[in-house]
Amino acid sequence: MPGDKSISHRAVLLGLIAAGPCRATGWLDSEDTRASLAAVRKLGAEVSLEKGVLEITPPLSPPTESVTIDCGNSGTTARLLTGLLAGWLPAGSSGVDLQGDASLSRRPMGRVVDPLRAMGADIAWLDKPGRLPIRIRGADLKGVDHHLEIASAQVKSALLLAGLFAEGNTTVAGVGGSRDHTELLLKTMGGLAKPGRFDIRVPGDPSSAAFFQAAAALVPGSDIIVPGQSINYTRTGALRVLRRAGVKVTIERPSGETGGELLGDVRVSHNLLKSFTITASDLPALVDEIPILAVLATQAEGETLITGAAELRLKESDRLAVMAENLKRLGADVVELDDGLKITGPTPLVGGPPGQPVVLETAADHRVAMAMAVAALVTKDETVLDEDTCVAVSYPYFFQTLDKLLGS
Ligand code: S3P
Repeated sequence: MPGDKSISHRAVLLGLIAAGPCRATGWLDSEDTRASLAAVRKLGAEVSLEKGVLEITPPLSPPTESVTIDCGNSGTTARLLTGLLAGWLPAGSSGVDLQGDASLSRRPMGRVVDPLRAMGADIAWLDKPGRLPIRIRGADLKGVDHHLEIASAQVKSALLLAGLFAEGNTTVAGVGGSRDHTELLLKTMGGLAKPGRFDIRVPGDPSSAAFFQAAAALVPGSDIIVPGQSINYTRTGALRVLRRAGVKVTIERPSGETGGELLGDVRVSHNLLKSFTITASDLPALVDEIPILAVLATQAEGETLITGAAELRLKESDRLAVMAENLKRLGADVVELDDGLKITGPTPLVGGPPGQPVVLETAADHRVAMAMAVAALVTKDETVLDEDTCVAVSYPYFFQTLDKLLGS
């Protein structure tokens, strides 16, 4: 598996404020993480990347000139960097402007900017309120007790990063269960008060592994092992759902720990699937896996109910709407709910006759593209994705891995 995307982002962004050179092996080289890498370079860090080994040396001080950073498609870059810059830039410094692509410019930023402003952050909307682009200037921050209303690791991380530079304590409470990679990496760096350095191995990304684990559960005769993936509890909700759906999931030879992150070799094989339920409390640990779990549900016996998932409408695309539409095009029994999906299975998935494939629309969303590619494995006749380059956001060689597994 490619390296974990969330941890790879954090390695770059925390490397910017580290006490000295840092290293991450198995770093994910993808479009999303490259946005964070380009950002810290612009902010003065020295970065080298060779064969998955990232080395980063922080700048001696924040930039004095104004800088514009393009976060591309990456919500993690935009949200985490907003919190970090609000505290790291010295008061009275020139601004750093953050912008993003069309998808990112539609996604909410107020959830980060509003609580940062309560700490004293100087952040201005440059176009529409609540959206990128924004301008961040340095300011003296005060620690504040935050109470989260959404289970977002991006918001939590942004506030913790700002808190590193704030006077007094910053606490983040409220909705729990979201990924804790920021906290773990900060601890690895020697404590929350003053980050030191890190030298970590990035585990395989469980959100990328989920596509092949679901494929193995769906395709008769399959039996796969994903070596060295993250088995951090805040990320393994999809494996727990696979088990609830009747799939045999075993974690073999747990292969150690690095930077506080647990690794394991995860084995999944085909089985007949039962329907499952996913509610709000399950969501943080599988938020990026809903598209592929929806595909799985079409082949599970009974009614699968996914609720408490309205956040999915605010991802790289409206994932509830886009997945419901694509699965319906293949004949699945799917009802789109305000905050989820109701899927009754199993239904045969059917494409079009030779030369007239059913066209599936990815909405340029990497996780939709990969989920529908897996759906095609259990679809009769032909389907085609309207585009497939978006997989480069998190998994540039996804189709090569898929071909290799199909070949075997
Ligand atoms: C991420 C957190 C999640 C997730 C995203 C990556 C992170 O978003 O969907 O792909 O690295 O912190 P939210 O925290 O906004 O739910």
